[in-house]
Amino acid sequence: MKNTASKRVALVTGANRGIGMEVCRQLAQQNYQVILSSRDEKKGKKAVEMLLQGFSNIDYHQLDISQTQSVETLKEWILTTYGRLDVLINNAAINYDTWQQPLNANLEECKQTVDVNLFGAWRMCQAFIPLMQQNDYGRVVNVSSGSGMLSGMGSETPAYGISKAALNVLTIKLAKELKNSGILINSVCPGWVKTDMGGQHAPRSVEEGAQSILWAATLADDGPSGGFFRDGIKLAW
Ligand SMILES: NC(=O)c1ccc[n+]([C@@H]2O[C@H](COP(=O)([O-])OP(=O)(O)OC[C@H]3O[C@@H](n4cnc5c(N)ncnc54)[C@H](OP(=O)(O)O)[C@@H]3O)[C@@H](O)[C@H]2O)c1
Repeated sequence: MKNTASKRVALVTGANRGIGMEVCRQLAQQNYQVILSSRDEKKGKKAVEMLLQGFSNIDYHQLDISQTQSVETLKEWILTTYGRLDVLINNAAINYDTWQQPLNANLEECKQTVDVNLFGAWRMCQAFIPLMQQNDYGRVVNVSSGSGMLSGMGSETPAYGISKAALNVLTIKLAKELKNSGILINSVCPGWVKTDMGGQHAPRSVEEGAQSILWAATLADDGPSGGFFRDGIKLAW
């Protein structure tokens, strides 16, 4: 679908289920042109099909954020189809490793976790922020977690916690580099949300979790950058 109107174009990673899928729905509701992406094409297309029952402004493209070629292919497609990108939601993540402690952690598993949760988001920023720079406008949301907070950090979920703490550092560093560029980048914790990752006992719905992310995706030009937020409220690192 071509972006005939002057709609803002938004890309969401890992959006075939959970919070990412709901972020797509809420962005579409706010009249963004949404690109729902997933590493598994079949699952992603099914998600789009479900959402298209309510909206026409959602497109699909395959994306595995751990694969440079996959990121480059999507970038080419976005340039050809829309010619720009305004919003990037780095939502995809893996491995809430409740079964590990730092001393017994499987380091291969830890490496894979950091590869997706940190380097995947970093790779996306390197590929897509230059498109935002062309228009002096951008909103980047790195979906982080309370598990990555240095203040009060526990010993549990070492792979996941370290990957999210590192993602927060990436947010700070990019925000400094992008100062006065029109591009705002923030880390957002969606809270503990009922998804495959969060489990059935989580108190929050995907709607509530996604709202926390939408807040940062739709910031006004004088909004904050380089911060860590939940529900629009600043968190300590
Ligand atoms: N749920 C919570 O309580 C909670 C709390 C704090 C933060 N968060 C954060 O919120 C975000 C969304 O979490 P969620 O609960 O919705 O998780 P989820 O239900 O487990 O969904 C994760 C999504 O990421 C995708 N993904 C994983 N690796 C990928 C890759 N290499 N390339 C592209 N996509 C990939 C998954 O695809 P597949 O379906 O193919 O596996 C899935 O669509 C994550 O960043 C998570 O860390 C969640």
